[in-house]
Amino acid sequence: MSVKRDPRSRKRHWHEMLIANDDQPENAAPPEREHMSLKTIANKLICKLRWIPTRLTFQRKGFGDAWRIFTHLTPEERLLLYHLGVKQPQGAIFVEIGSYLGASSCFLAAAVQERCGLLHCVDSWGNEGMTEGKRDTWDEFSNNIMPFSTIIKAHRGFSTDIAASFHESIDLLFVDGNHSYEGCRADLEAWLPRLRDGGMLIMHDYGWAEGVKKVVDEIVKPRQKDSGHVQQNTYWTKIKT
Ligand SMILES: C[S@@+](CC[C@H](N)C(=O)[O-])C[C@H]1O[C@@H](n2cnc3c(N)ncnc32)[C@H](O)[C@@H]1O
Repeated sequence: MSVKRDPRSRKRHWHEMLIANDDQPENAAPPEREHMSLKTIANKLICKLRWIPTRLTFQRKGFGDAWRIFTHLTPEERLLLYHLGVKQPQGAIFVEIGSYLGASSCFLAAAVQERCGLLHCVDSWGNEGMTEGKRDTWDEFSNNIMPFSTIIKAHRGFSTDIAASFHESIDLLFVDGNHSYEGCRADLEAWLPRLRDGGMLIMHDYGWAEGVKKVVDEIVKPRQKDSGHVQQNTYWTKIKT
């Protein structure tokens, strides 16, 4: 069974309100929800409800301002970063490839703060490969991550260049940079050897980017310790080295 609506209508049906991503700005492009089956609606609703306790914890600990930063990650994907982050050992080292305006960085940083660790953010801050075109995003990133500035170390440059001079052992690696097959593969070849045995690898855009999917199949799956997990556009697993 599917739910249809007049595409010209700006009114939301009840089920759209339940699953709406209200953290996105008003002018964000409306998602395609023309023929959503009841099963899809139920799954999305369950996914939202499942994250309520984590969301409440995140708010209670005073990290709520992070919701204001624009990102393409869904609220559940942002909470997933925080959730996987707080499971890491004390003093953990996180690396994020592709920080953009700092939204995902803040969710990771909130977890790093709880583990008394450090988050390395890697980006050219030149909006490489973004549909909105190249622009300098450094000032926005710097302002947005201000509450976490003492536990974030920013590395400005191309990710493979930065990897060449990075020698720390990584506990959690979040990859959300270049989404082409070649770019994503180069990132993993450069950074995966720095991930400790049993370290957490999180890949964004697994759901839609063919290149990312292919890289996960070729490079990640043969090295993973568990069967791998998917939520929305995010893939995560523990890696054996
Ligand atoms: C999709 S955005 C990251 C979004 C961010 N994780 C968030 O959720 O807020 C991709 C970012 O990766 C950066 N990027 C793409 N290719 C890169 C490369 N080869 N080296 C460094 N940064 C890169 C872009 O400049 C952009 O800021």
